[in-house]
Amino acid sequence: MDLQLLERTRQSFRERFDRDATVHAYAPGRIEVLGNHTDYNEGFVLSAAIDRGTYFLAAPAAGPDVCLVARDLEDEVVFPVAQPGRSKAGAWSNYVRGVCAKCLADPSPGFDAMIAGDLPLGAGLSSSAALEMSTGLALLDLYALPYDRIALARAGQAAEHEYAGAKCGLLDQVTSLFGRAGHLVMTDFRSLEIETMPLRANSRFLVCNTGVQHSLVESEYNARREDCEAAAAAFARVCDQSVAALRDVTPDDWRVHSSGMDERMARRAAHVIGENERVLVGRAMLQAGDLEGFGASLYASHASSQNNFENSCAELDTLVEAARSIAGIYGARLSGGGFGGSVIVLVDAAAVEAASVELRAAYAREYGVECEVVTVTAAAGAALLTPEGQPRTINGEQQNEVT
Ligand code: GLA
Repeated sequence: MDLQLLERTRQSFRERFDRDATVHAYAPGRIEVLGNHTDYNEGFVLSAAIDRGTYFLAAPAAGPDVCLVARDLEDEVVFPVAQPGRSKAGAWSNYVRGVCAKCLADPSPGFDAMIAGDLPLGAGLSSSAALEMSTGLALLDLYALPYDRIALARAGQAAEHEYAGAKCGLLDQVTSLFGRAGHLVMTDFRSLEIETMPLRANSRFLVCNTGVQHSLVESEYNARREDCEAAAAAFARVCDQSVAALRDVTPDDWRVHSSGMDERMARRAAHVIGENERVLVGRAMLQAGDLEGFGASLYASHASSQNNFENSCAELDTLVEAARSIAGIYGARLSGGGFGGSVIVLVDAAAVEAASVELRAAYAREYGVECEVVTVTAAAGAALLTPEGQPRTINGEQQNEVT
């Protein structure tokens, strides 16, 4: 969290709206560490909130409208709080409109708001979930709504489904809300049991942003989800146990039944079943301090994305391949939906600088330009803040510690 950015945003708010913001909310982005496309298949994911995110500053307005300023984009939209509607021109505002529509039953009056952040857009770090969750927390405070993190995560997910057209799971929103400094978030997306586990102090994550964004990313993502649902239905017809989602299909079921299935569905299922296994084994490896083993699982996850799920691309593959021969790197894989975005790299703390230089160089050798490589820290989840950036209580409940 960048407190100087918070202060600059407070000043901009004051200049634009002639008064101070009364609500200061913050929500981080996330990295998906292991467990790819498992969330909507009711499976397992290891993830982390990161030390970059979005501020949402607001103050009640006299009229019925929301006036929303995106400080970084120098863009501004106005919409009635009772009927947020959808926008094509200021598409970024759809995440805020969607959360307003989902969280507010009969709201009046409107509010003025300003957003600002330090998450690269389209890098696969969930800048949209950070915007949704910071919006949601601000609304809780503005309208004295009950504080329920799962309900808030679902409101963000509904905004993605209905306002942005991405049929995502709950991973991004849950991680942004439940992150903990120095910890990974382990989520069971069937029971929504969420626990955190400490990361070894001598390891770091690098994020290598290819800057590539597949133009069909939403439709490709949705197509994978449909494949998974079709694969689950195919297994439900042949397995003895009941299969509500790919979560219920075991590796043995896959070995016995997959040869009789559509070949593409079988590969999609192999990815999800393999990822669920890798998360459970990976968690045990992390608990035992086995970073080599955990890193190997990251490489195996990426290979499965390439071959089974087909959600990688050449730029991501180049980085993962380069990582294999760089000293101090334990493992690397694509993170999030895929089809572009970022590769995450687990690296020994002492090797961060040298590994970053080598990754940039490897990318430049192939594509003529360096990719952006930044070190991210596992950070605390979303919170309402004091104007100075300290976490506050909501409805008497203590917030996450903010790093
Ligand atoms: C995106 C979605 C998540 C999840 C990941 C893939 O980040 O928003 O819900 O499905 O892709 O694991």
